[in-house]
Amino acid sequence: MESYKNLLLANKAWVQEKLNLDREYFNDLAQDQRPEFLWIGCSDSRVPAEEVTGTKPGEIFVHRNVANLVVHTDLNMQSVLHYGIEVLKVKHIIVCGHYGCGGVRAAMSGQRFGIMDQWLRNIKDVYHAHRDEIRGAGDMDAQTNRLVELSVFEQVRNITKTAALQRAWAFNRRPAVHGWVFGLNDGLLKNLYRLDPDSPIEDIYRYDADSLR
Ligand code: CO
Repeated sequence: MESYKNLLLANKAWVQEKLNLDREYFNDLAQDQRPEFLWIGCSDSRVPAEEVTGTKPGEIFVHRNVANLVVHTDLNMQSVLHYGIEVLKVKHIIVCGHYGCGGVRAAMSGQRFGIMDQWLRNIKDVYHAHRDEIRGAGDMDAQTNRLVELSVFEQVRNITKTAALQRAWAFNRRPAVHGWVFGLNDGLLKNLYRLDPDSPIEDIYRYDADSLR
């Protein structure tokens, strides 16, 4: 049997399992979504947001891209962010990187990858801003992992530079923005950073209170 057919079979089994526990499961699921969390993670198949956090359908609003980047010209990511903040009114935004990230490793190399070079440039810029610290981190794996952490912090900060986030902070005192890293070796999530609604935002990125109304 072709491997993709297993997915469809597994889906049937999953539906049955849910219905066995609760006949109304899908009726309830279809009503609405009220997730408290927005997850911005890497597309890497080994870091599934729901599974590593033990959450169920309806609990996490998810966006994933190569190396979990928050890029201000990325209409896709910015739309997810806007919807999560303004419509779903999430309480927490989690940017989750992972050690050994292939996207980060690729950005540290001098290799060309075609169209992806444009995307990876964002990570090269983070490297450049922290190059002394990264070079002092140890061997290549240690340097990659330090860049993973520093990039997560930059992505957290990039979220705070958006008008959508600043509006929510000004008027609703939420959401908190968290920076996490997942360890492929041990399966653990590390809580690196947390920015609460009163966290300072550098002047040049801060919108006037009047213009946020
Ligand atoms: Co990755």
